Amino acid sequence: MPFTILKKRELVPTIHQVDVAAPRVAEKAMPGQFVILRIDECGERIPLTIADFDAADGTVTLIFQEIGKTTRQLASLGAGDSIADLAGPLGCASSIERFGTVVCVGGGVGIAPIFPIARGLMEAGNKVISIIGARSADILFWEERMEEASSELYVTTDDGTKGHHGFVTDIVQKVIESGEQVDRVIAIGPPVMMRAVAGVTKPFGVKTVVSLNPIMVDGTGMCGACRVLVGGVTKFACVDGPEFDAHEVDFTLLMSRLAMYLPEEKEALDYEAAAEPAV
Ligand code: FAD
Ligand code: FES
Ligand code: MG
Repeated sequence: MPFTILKKRELVPTIHQVDVAAPRVAEKAMPGQFVILRIDECGERIPLTIADFDAADGTVTLIFQEIGKTTRQLASLGAGDSIADLAGPLGCASSIERFGTVVCVGGGVGIAPIFPIARGLMEAGNKVISIIGARSADILFWEERMEEASSELYVTTDDGTKGHHGFVTDIVQKVIESGEQVDRVIAIGPPVMMRAVAGVTKPFGVKTVVSLNPIMVDGTGMCGACRVLVGGVTKFACVDGPEFDAHEVDFTLLMSRLAMYLPEEKEALDYEAAAEPAV
């Protein structure tokens, strides 16, 4: 059964939002979960986090960055177009409990998945200190949404065009050193960012959770593509995660496995570009 795109817009250059009619997914979705979609019968399966969901409207919101063949193809679709398959919700939901004070960190496109988690933690009665970061102000999105979903919001940009000039880790460190009792940190973004956050919180002994993004194929624990090493034990991120204890994750292995198919991904992109009509 195809899934219809109800709305589609480019939030900032190369980052898009699509709202898809998927009532059964929307009904069951929880913060931290994801879907695996296939644009058409010939397409590959790609995982995207459920950035928002509305059970009453039967819609799920996905935010994605154009990075390779499939995300470029998805970006070319518009309202009224459809996606062949959309399986979910997949993965374990984020732990939403009354922890106390939680620092939520979203880097780059990771701002999207941190949003429903921050909102859920606020609703559960936590003090939520959110830190969102991007390379530059022009690719920062959902600042207002994050403001609403947080007790305090900090913005960072690598180039200083908005907020703190520097990295999200600078603010994580500042918040912890300010004497604020931080009960939990959750960080979602590029693996280098998540590793850096883990490095900052470890000496302070602050429980830190990250959402891992290894290559996934089936999303149901059968193919092994998403294997990650956590505390020396092999886990399948699609069914055991995607959230794990940041201080236990082998980020070097994660990053090397993410780069496993770079030649094939480049070939797919070049093939697509060659097939595009010249304008
Ligand atoms: P390609 O050129 O094929 O790949 C570019 C890079 O993306 C690769 O080098 C590899 O690192 C990664 N990648 C490629 N294929 C996969 C795959 N099947 N599974 C995972 N990673 C892959 N991205 C977003 O923009 N928004 C999200 O909300 C989001 N949520 C994710 C949630 C999970 C649980 C996971 C595992 C990944 C998520 N990603 C998200 C990453 C997204 O799946 C990849 O960017 C996408 O698959 C790239 O496809 P492509 O064909 O456009 O690029
Ligand atoms: Fe196949 Fe996780 S994606 S086991
Ligand atoms: Mg691809």
